[in-house]
Amino acid sequence: MNDVSKQGADANRSESALEITRRRFLSILFGIASALGLSAFAAPLIRYAYPVVKGTVYEKQKVAAVADVTAEGVSFDYQDIPSYLIQKKDKSYAAYSLVCTHLGCIVKWEAANDIFHCPCHGGKFNENGINISGPPPKPLTEYNVLVEAGQIYVKGVSRDSSS
Ligand code: FES
Repeated sequence: MNDVSKQGADANRSESALEITRRRFLSILFGIASALGLSAFAAPLIRYAYPVVKGTVYEKQKVAAVADVTAEGVSFDYQDIPSYLIQKKDKSYAAYSLVCTHLGCIVKWEAANDIFHCPCHGGKFNENGINISGPPPKPLTEYNVLVEAGQIYVKGVSRDSSS
């Protein structure tokens, strides 16, 4: 073999090696793209099959001073949920989520009747948050109420009706 043909054979061999490398690189790239595409498709399915139970952290939150609570109650948001503090007939305090357990409308406290009334379908809850008429299937979510040094706080849920 003369020098020219030997150089040509070397060039072909190195070009072939380069092509394999290029092919392999494209194969790896395609594999990564496929894996990403598959995971984007599979992630919602996996999440649906195995729902994540959220570990909610409930902060202690001041709602009102004892002296400021009237029969009308006190509106506040807890964990970004519209909520309400009332003083019951026995003078104890109770606080509830205002989210109706039927279809999620916001209920209103009617102090004159001692009920929470849902404007959407007429559901009613008593001062204990218990569903007493209409379509709501469950009581209102209730919070733990703490009274400390003349201040009223909520911290956490004592009855969770949200799920
Ligand atoms: S959403 Fe409250 S009664 Fe239907």
